[in-house]
Amino acid sequence: MNVYDSDRMTDLLAPLGYGAIDSPLDADMVILNTCHIREKAAEKVFSELGRLRDIKEQKAAAGKKMILAVAGCVAQAEGEEIIRRAPYVDMIFGPQTYHRLPEMVARASRQTKTVLDTDFPIESKFDHLPDSTHVEGSTAFLTVQEGCDKFCTFCVVPYTRGAEFSRPAADVLSEATTLAGAGAREITLLGQNVNAYHGKASGGGEWNLGRLIRGVADISGIDRIRYMTSYPAEVDDALIAAHRDVPELMPFLHLPVQSGSDRILSAMNRRHNAGQYRELVTRLRSARPDIGLSSDFIIGFPGETDEDFEDTLALIREIGFIQAFSFKYSPRPGTPAASLPGQVEEQVKSARLAVLQNLVEEQQADFNQSCVGKVLPVLLEQPGRHGGQLIGRSPYMQVVHVTAPNENLGMIRSLHIDSSRSYSLSGTLIDDAGMSETSAPMRRISV
Ligand code: 5AD
Ligand code: SF4
Repeated sequence: MNVYDSDRMTDLLAPLGYGAIDSPLDADMVILNTCHIREKAAEKVFSELGRLRDIKEQKAAAGKKMILAVAGCVAQAEGEEIIRRAPYVDMIFGPQTYHRLPEMVARASRQTKTVLDTDFPIESKFDHLPDSTHVEGSTAFLTVQEGCDKFCTFCVVPYTRGAEFSRPAADVLSEATTLAGAGAREITLLGQNVNAYHGKASGGGEWNLGRLIRGVADISGIDRIRYMTSYPAEVDDALIAAHRDVPELMPFLHLPVQSGSDRILSAMNRRHNAGQYRELVTRLRSARPDIGLSSDFIIGFPGETDEDFEDTLALIREIGFIQAFSFKYSPRPGTPAASLPGQVEEQVKSARLAVLQNLVEEQQADFNQSCVGKVLPVLLEQPGRHGGQLIGRSPYMQVVHVTAPNENLGMIRSLHIDSSRSYSLSGTLIDDAGMSETSAPMRRISV
């Protein structure tokens, strides 16, 4: 979602004459869009700020001004602390106020005092934003829901992103249509808790996520739909039915379980136990038998014993996750779990993390190997590092390399999978002329 937000900030600043560049060295303004989810991400902000202060000072010595801003969840949670530790920062604003960027820039140009805007405004920022046109490699992100009311005991999101909010369905469909016009063939619907989506419908009532997916699938040019991130306890029948009925909805789902131990899940306030998660996966698989699953795991949550960790490994084996993100538990200030007894030693966390990651890697490699010899539709997204090579994604999010002419970029082509590695596949283009998925012309923009 930070990628989506950063793109929107770029859009808002375009009328003021700003355009995105790669290096801070030549920039008139630098915005750090930050993440507060774990301590490491948050601390990185302060080391990065030190580096940017040097650049800002060098520029000032040469008579040039550089506006330095901190955006995102670290700004939201630690605005005052940033002013204290880095008073040279010009603007600090949270994820819900970046639509006010133009006026903040005007204020920052007039005054030397840091501009701080970390409200949760009554108005939605989306009412102030034009539709996104940011398409990269024929894929685009689209925020449909924000915030979270679930208060998992380890998590800062409900405090930094605020309460759950769903965009009206018509706004989502309009933005998806704009993105399709800008060349997007795949759209990922985003939300901190995306299956809590319940947006106002044009004709009255509300649409849930399943209904919204059907609406996006009807937009011409959109061939692939994904969504993240899901909260298992809120996956409903309509969403499962969409996996059964909507061919555009890709058979890959990021469905974080966090732990396989009921004791730990309850201490996390997750509102699902391991059995309910298994049952949910069974229902998803009966709707879409080939669905690939991925998850987030927190290792070393307070009180986690070897036995709890074994339960997590058992669940991983049983579900057969084909991908996972795993993190050592990081106590976050103000969250209930930070003050729980039984904090787990760093060494123990590291050892468990290594075991879990090895297991997931093995499963991922096995899944990749099982695709060898099959034909998969692959959306060719970007040129590869070697000449003549293109890189795409399979329906299951696997990276696929192929030797093929550039005119295939932006197309979904059938590839025969020849070989697999731990993290990617290699394939050969097969003659699939006439396949409906390949018919749209290529339209790409680079921002
Ligand atoms: N420590 C470690 N990992 C965390 N996550 C969220 N909060 C923490 C924390 N305090 C992980 C969860 C979540 C993912 C986005 O980040 O696994 O699903
Ligand atoms: Fe955080 Fe997700 Fe739990 Fe919400 S559902 S509190 S975003 S981990």
